[in-house]
Amino acid sequence: MTLKLGVLVSGEGSNLQAVIDAVRDKKLNAEIVLVASDKSEIPALKKAEKAGIPYKTLNPAEFSDRENYDQTLAHEFLKHQVQLVVLAGFMRILSAKFLACFPDAVINIHPSLLPDDAEKEEITLPDGTISRIFRGKNAVNLALEAGVSWTGCTVHLVTEKVDQGPVLAKKAVPILPHDTVLSLHSRIKEEEHHLLPLGIQEWVKKMLKVC
Ligand code: GAR
Repeated sequence: MTLKLGVLVSGEGSNLQAVIDAVRDKKLNAEIVLVASDKSEIPALKKAEKAGIPYKTLNPAEFSDRENYDQTLAHEFLKHQVQLVVLAGFMRILSAKFLACFPDAVINIHPSLLPDDAEKEEITLPDGTISRIFRGKNAVNLALEAGVSWTGCTVHLVTEKVDQGPVLAKKAVPILPHDTVLSLHSRIKEEEHHLLPLGIQEWVKKMLKVC
C-alpha cells in the first residue's frame, strides 16, 4: 500500500526535499499528495512545485481564529485522503481539533534530542553528561547557549503537549567548539534529512504493523 502523505512547511523545505527524494528513490513507499504552508513565497513551495506536488498556502491572518484555521487545514488534507501528516519545519502549534482528524497520524521533526519518556526534563548525552530538554521554537539556540556538548534531532508523534509525543527516531549531533547557530543547525539538518524518512518508516511499522 502506498502511504498518502500530507506535508506542512513554513520555510526552507530542506526536510520536505528529503522526503521528496526518499519517495523518488523508492526508499519510502509513499506519495506526497499535498504540501501546505502558512506562508507564501517560501522556498519550500518552490520545491513542491518543482517536484510536481500540489501545494497550498493558508494564511492565518485570513482566518477568524486558530480553530477555524486548523479545521480548514485538516479539511484540505482529508480531501486529499492524507493518512499521515508530516510537520517538516512547520512553525505553528496544531490544535486538538486538527489532531483529532488524524489520530496518532501527525509527526514532527524537532531540532534537538527529546527523551523517550515524555515526562522527563533531562536527557543523558552520548558522553554521559546530563542535558535539559530543549523544546519549542528556538531549540538550536537554546542548546548552544546551554553549553552542552551534544544536541541532535528527533522525529516524534505530535500530541497536544508541544514536543512531548512518543519518539519514533532520533540522532545525536556533537556541538563543536566554534559552532554558531547557523553551523550547528546546518549539521543538525544534514542528520534530519536521513532521520525524517526513517521516522516515517518507523511510524508505518508501529502504527500500520508493517514489518
Ligand atoms: C528543521 O531544522 C526542523 O527541525 C525545525 O525547522 C527546520 C526546518 O528546516 N523545526 C522546528 O524547529 C519545529 N519546532 P527546513 O524548512 O529546511 O526543513
